Amino acid sequence: MWRSSILMAGLISAGMFVQDSRKTITVEVYLDDSAQLFIEKHEMRSKGTKRLFVSPPLPPGKYSYTIKSISPGPNGPRTVTRQLDVQPGDFESIDLRAPDKRPITDVEYEPTPQNVVDAMLRLGKVTNKDVVWDLGCGDGRIPVTAAKVYGCQSRGFDIDPERVKDSLANVRNRGVERLVTIEQRDIFTLDLSQGPTVVTLYLLPHLNAKLLPQLRKLPPGTRVLSVEHRMGDIKPDEHIAVDTERGAYNVYLWKAETLRDN
Ligand SMILES: C[S@@+](CC[C@H](N)C(=O)[O-])C[C@H]1O[C@@H](n2cnc3c(N)ncnc32)[C@H](O)[C@@H]1O
Repeated sequence: MWRSSILMAGLISAGMFVQDSRKTITVEVYLDDSAQLFIEKHEMRSKGTKRLFVSPPLPPGKYSYTIKSISPGPNGPRTVTRQLDVQPGDFESIDLRAPDKRPITDVEYEPTPQNVVDAMLRLGKVTNKDVVWDLGCGDGRIPVTAAKVYGCQSRGFDIDPERVKDSLANVRNRGVERLVTIEQRDIFTLDLSQGPTVVTLYLLPHLNAKLLPQLRKLPPGTRVLSVEHRMGDIKPDEHIAVDTERGAYNVYLWKAETLRDN
């Protein structure tokens, strides 16, 4: 499917795909500098550790790409293959390097713009009775804003010790130590069944899908908010687009009940 899309992109002139429902799929692949990269058996010509592919605009639907890297090694070539389920509009990122060459994080740090954080907390109808958990908290701006603006308790979790330091400094600078805690944790080990009434995420589509079994344990009434990325095929209960200097950001909301029932 990917290969024919690439070939079509070469043959069809710009403008022919201009149709509102068609969107591109962007896939970022990290791999060894000298590795060969194949997508649907089609060898990619780009080089480097980070390689980016953008499909031509595609109609709505489910697509599955087989992504393979072959890198030379002392004991012969090392081959890694991953199947990636994608949909038009997705941005995905995967790392095919050997485990000892990968960063500890599942997704790179990129902060949510502050006006998007503000709009997301409004969409979640956060009040001072809520407990907000941000999974992968970066510099802590989401739990800090929740505490500062709504006076609610909040917690941030990040696997990267540098981000935990940034978050703790942010908490101190904004004077919200009484309301906010920050912990170095892998979010995929958290028990979400007790604690949060609002969960915020800015991860990737495949990481949201991986988190679903944990999110399905959230009690009714809990709201899950995701910056930019879908949650499997589960239709959000609400969706807003927020304009920023870096373009529009989508924010999706699911009620815990919706996640359990789908
Ligand atoms: C895109 S950033 C979002 C930061 C913040 N939530 C925001 O919206 O501004 C994703 C964060 O998730 C963290 N992260 C990645 N994998 C993680 C994991 N398995 N457990 C905890 N944190 C993780 C990264 O270190 C990074 O800070």
